[in-house]
Amino acid sequence: MRRILGFESSCDETGVALVEVAGDAPPNLLAQALHSQISMHQAYGGVVPELASRDHVRRVLPLTREVLSQAGLALDDIDLIAYTQGPGLAGALLVGAGVAVSLAASLDVPALPIHHLEGHLLSPFLSADPPQFPFVALLVSGGHTQLMRVDDVGSYAILGETIDDAAGEAFDKSAKLLGLPYPGGPHLARMAEFGDPEAYALPRPLLHSGKPDFSFAGLKTAVLTQVKKIGEAPCDQTRADLAASTQAAIVDVLVKKSLLALKETGLKRLVVAGGVGANARLREQLNAACAKRGVRVHYPELSLCTDNGAMIAMAAALRVQRDMAQPRRDGGFEVRPRWELGS
Ligand code: KG4
Ligand code: ZN
Repeated sequence: MRRILGFESSCDETGVALVEVAGDAPPNLLAQALHSQISMHQAYGGVVPELASRDHVRRVLPLTREVLSQAGLALDDIDLIAYTQGPGLAGALLVGAGVAVSLAASLDVPALPIHHLEGHLLSPFLSADPPQFPFVALLVSGGHTQLMRVDDVGSYAILGETIDDAAGEAFDKSAKLLGLPYPGGPHLARMAEFGDPEAYALPRPLLHSGKPDFSFAGLKTAVLTQVKKIGEAPCDQTRADLAASTQAAIVDVLVKKSLLALKETGLKRLVVAGGVGANARLREQLNAACAKRGVRVHYPELSLCTDNGAMIAMAAALRVQRDMAQPRRDGGFEVRPRWELGS
């Protein structure tokens, strides 16, 4: 049996978690703790990298103590320490990596770097009904929008991705135009509940390209045009209608392209991961479209859609089980702020 401590610090969430691996059995999440910096960055309308790094420094050790206490374990019970190596904010990554590698050295255990997107991709393995390989993955976060064919842990072939903004970025930028706080995705989704998704005819870029690729930059421009037309003091219903129409445009594209990727690969399983995977309309529409086609859809638990330490510890555990981990014991490390999954 091995216990893996995982650290996530790539952006504005400090996450720590402990996962246990025993033989071939599904790895078991023993404890996790998370601190979100959202309220700190909200005043600036987005993440301030230097503030993010400093806050990770403040949070990471108290969260580690909390995780160990929840699990009723001590530092000596840890066999491996995993951390997010990238992609993400360089300074923020350095905090998690630095703490992970020094703690590993002091405990004389190895340290294992993990790709943040692999963490998202494998996060449905933390749910009660984990997927089986192979599957198509729709990865929709604040920085990435990709469709991938996943044959096993570490085997990721990109089928299509965004040529400009990510889906989360499209949500966040449109929400900002609607006067909503950062990060706008969940706020826009809440406002959209009261709106008419057909009130505004917004573009669905590349919808008919015939390829599983995405482009969302034009949508934000279209939303800006509508915001200007509406004028300075729109009523709540108008804002809700625009929010609902924006969400519908993003979701339509994500659903259509996911179906295209499923058709191209002939696979009957879809995994949705990343922050936008929490979106209720996306889940509803994907569930309906996939049910018609006999495709099973898997999502991470709602609380594990956005960044967290559990997905990093889980990705490490799945790698360890497959003998794919190449941990280091020499105290050295590097972070990779820009890093393609599959490279
Ligand atoms: O995966 P994540 O936590 O961070 C990155 O790795 O980027 O994703 C954050 C993104 C943000 O853009 C946020 O607005 C979006 O996920 N998001 C949502 C919802 N919850 C989070 N977008 C739409 N609807 C939601 N319910
Ligand atoms: Zn993320």
